[in-house]
Amino acid sequence: QKPDACAFVIFGVTGDLTHRLVLPSLYNLAAGNLLPDRFCIVGIARKGMSSEQLRVNLMEGLRKYATRPVEDEIAQRLLQCVTAIEADPKEPDSFDQLKERLEKLEAARETHGNRLFYLATPPAAFAPIAQQLGRVGLLKEDGKAWRRLVVEKPFGTDLASAKKLNDQLLELVTEHQIYRIDHYLGKETVQNILVLRFANGMFEPIWNRHHIDHVQITVEEKLGVGTRGSFYDATGALRDMVPNHLFQLLSLVAMEPPARFDAHTVRSEKAEVLSAIQPLSEQEALLNSVRGQYKAGLVGDTELPDYRNTKDVSADSATETYAALKLTIDNWRWAGVPFYLRTGKALGAKRTEVAIKFRQAPFAMFSCTPIDTLAENYLVIGIEPTQSITLQFNTKIPGPTIRTDGVQMKFNYKDYFQAEPATGYETLIYDCMIGDNILFQRADSVEAGWKAVEPFIEAWKKAGRDGLHTYEAGSEGPKAAADLLARDGRSWRKLA
Ligand code: BG6
Repeated sequence: QKPDACAFVIFGVTGDLTHRLVLPSLYNLAAGNLLPDRFCIVGIARKGMSSEQLRVNLMEGLRKYATRPVEDEIAQRLLQCVTAIEADPKEPDSFDQLKERLEKLEAARETHGNRLFYLATPPAAFAPIAQQLGRVGLLKEDGKAWRRLVVEKPFGTDLASAKKLNDQLLELVTEHQIYRIDHYLGKETVQNILVLRFANGMFEPIWNRHHIDHVQITVEEKLGVGTRGSFYDATGALRDMVPNHLFQLLSLVAMEPPARFDAHTVRSEKAEVLSAIQPLSEQEALLNSVRGQYKAGLVGDTELPDYRNTKDVSADSATETYAALKLTIDNWRWAGVPFYLRTGKALGAKRTEVAIKFRQAPFAMFSCTPIDTLAENYLVIGIEPTQSITLQFNTKIPGPTIRTDGVQMKFNYKDYFQAEPATGYETLIYDCMIGDNILFQRADSVEAGWKAVEPFIEAWKKAGRDGLHTYEAGSEGPKAAADLLARDGRSWRKLA
């Protein structure tokens, strides 16, 4: 299905996000013939930048970041759609001019007034831009044409700011017009969690507290903070990753089966499970979490400095670069099943996975294999770097006596499907254009996510550097993260 004719208006058109993700994705959609037949891209550019200059700038970015060799013919077809228009929320008049120019362009390109405004800007600009667009009437739907607002992350920095931003946007548009991006939902393996759970009959009967011992969600990165010091030091691992990316994984794994596969039903179930995360007091939050900050060390061949010696990071920073949490979900399916979450930077390996650990066999039947030496039964959803699903179980070692060993049955995406390398944004951008918001966050789940992490944010803020562990860059993270599970007689899944 090709999307409706539309204008694709990008704020932050010369920025990193547009270069790295938005344009390469539009290019991949163009290569797959999935862009509208009548289409224009409007880049909101700085004063004095001509459309030709903007095209050159975008072409440079495309050559650098395209996920496949750039074919001139496709790139030219795409760039031909680009027009630069100036607008700056600090100069409200510029939005009146934007309206005039955009309407002219829409008439010439016959895009029927359908518009998508993509806010690829720093978050402080989201509300001011939307307010100006609203003021000049560019966001109003008139029954014939659609108007959509795509908002990048981070969506707020805590519950209060996320609520405020939701309120500001919802004064201008209705919920169905807002597309809050979380790039994790663009990942095939993340979308596949829904298919794994709801297109297969065999998992449903065991997907609950009767059979599942606990769930581990791991997002480990090798990269340090690099050049993002000022953003990161004000943000930390928890805010940067947990209420958004890790909670996307958690909600897909833990949600109830939706009765229908539509945006309203699926997103309601996701919001419901997030709002069932047990609220903790600050004291409980401290007991059920670990935070760490990296010290200098070697990650692969790269020598990383102390986090506190990173450019734009405060020398006595108490910001965590590693966070591990234990959460529980208060509902019938999950009562008593801990969800352990961990994420960190500058670790020894890159790994994003969800590991579902099943209860162990109830009785030690094989006398030469005591029950506590059996391999653990895991279903592991591998998201990065390998895209896979692995089942770990015990099997008999060949020979005259019964001895067991843990083995793995592994499905690798690449063995079955040959997909063109992609940015992971293609589906998201395509969905914005066809008006499907299943893969976007709704206001209530964003707020439920912030609400669940609020006790940790508050408790950590008060504790300052007390209780902040350190770990060597290139290691597995702070030892205290292992203790968090050891206390419950459990351990984090090791990399095979
Ligand atoms: C971003 C965070 O949202 O996600 C980054 O701001 C992080 O700090 C990135 O590195 C991780 O994404 P991925 O897809 O590499 O797991």
